[in-house]
Amino acid sequence: MSKAAVEKISGAFDAETLREEFPILSEQRDGRRLVYLDSGATTQKPRAVIREIERFYEEANSNVHRGVHLLSERATERFEGAREKVRSFINAREAREIVFVRGTTEAVNLVAGSFGRDRIGEGDEIVITHMEHHSNIVPWQLLAEQTGAVLKVVPITDDGELVLEEYERLLGPRTKLVSVIYISNSLGTVNPIKDMVAMAHTAGVPVLVDAAQAAAHRRIDVIDLDCDLLAFSGHKLYGPTGIGVLYGKAELLESMPPYQGGGEMILSVSFEGTTYNTIPGRFEAGTPNVAGAVGLGAAIDFVSSLDRDAAEAHERGLLAYGAERLADVPDLSIVGCPREKSGAHSFLVGDVHPHDIGTVLDAEGVAVRTGHHCTQPLMERLGLTATARASFGVYNTRQDIDRLVEGLGRVTEMFG
Ligand code: ALA
Repeated sequence: MSKAAVEKISGAFDAETLREEFPILSEQRDGRRLVYLDSGATTQKPRAVIREIERFYEEANSNVHRGVHLLSERATERFEGAREKVRSFINAREAREIVFVRGTTEAVNLVAGSFGRDRIGEGDEIVITHMEHHSNIVPWQLLAEQTGAVLKVVPITDDGELVLEEYERLLGPRTKLVSVIYISNSLGTVNPIKDMVAMAHTAGVPVLVDAAQAAAHRRIDVIDLDCDLLAFSGHKLYGPTGIGVLYGKAELLESMPPYQGGGEMILSVSFEGTTYNTIPGRFEAGTPNVAGAVGLGAAIDFVSSLDRDAAEAHERGLLAYGAERLADVPDLSIVGCPREKSGAHSFLVGDVHPHDIGTVLDAEGVAVRTGHHCTQPLMERLGLTATARASFGVYNTRQDIDRLVEGLGRVTEMFG
């Protein structure tokens, strides 16, 4: 990002100026600017991230940790530099607590395949919640099928909040792990993660936090949260796809067996037996997504360069403005009204199918996501099959919400 742009943004948050840093946001649809309200699915990328990836391939491309030559050293330095940026971003104690993975999904699968297979047996319990993304349900179901473990599900209220008394009740002598979403991708509910971690720890249970949505909307401090494991994806944090992070407390990660076998995760291999690498290498088999990690590092630099308080205030303002404007749309109902919400409004318009809402909005140049948002059990609990969802990024403005409301007017005209 140019220095002038940073200066303009800091102080009062200026999303309109910030938009200029995102080349794709200059896209037009029928002569009007394309309104992107699907950052919950993936965020757009600032020029600084795109350029950093390009620079990596132009100046440093090589494999990491494997060569003594100049380019290998450069690549390793940028890759490990990115790990250090992630460490600092989430306030982890040590860089070895940061494992690069493909994304949140792979991180959860890693924990299920390593910690889960090692420590969770027949009759043991894993506590998740009714608002989890499929990526925090299916890996545990696969594990349960293999081991005979049991999934316990924390119920939610009609408003889309967790029932914490039930959560506490579910933490029993057989509970081996809690795995919980920080911010619901479907409803925007912000769960009281710090309290939930404390409650689990009182029962002696470690906690994995799915911070896929939270990473872009909340400052993550793993020491303050005291979570044992935490996962997020680069692409929801203004970084590239195919790169993500599993954070784990060093002692816990050290005690976990490998997840995948291959290069980098070993110290020595023979046909008589193999010894495994220390962390984080033990969990990074094969050539990693080096350019992705470098791009994620640039995304973290980008986010860190923003006035985070102002960005959060801007986002709260957008959510509030969105709720106010959507309330004026005939027959529109917002799905879920938790006390603390972030990042998105899910909604319905009368009995218009959400896919029709999405298609009409698309023709009006407004991009929203429609469907079950990879949370079918949550939809079923709410008596729905799908919703339309407008989700926000740092580049969204009130004007974008006005365009959404205008597009919804067209939906009402066509289907009302
Ligand atoms: N999990 C992403 C979403 O909520 C894909 O859209």
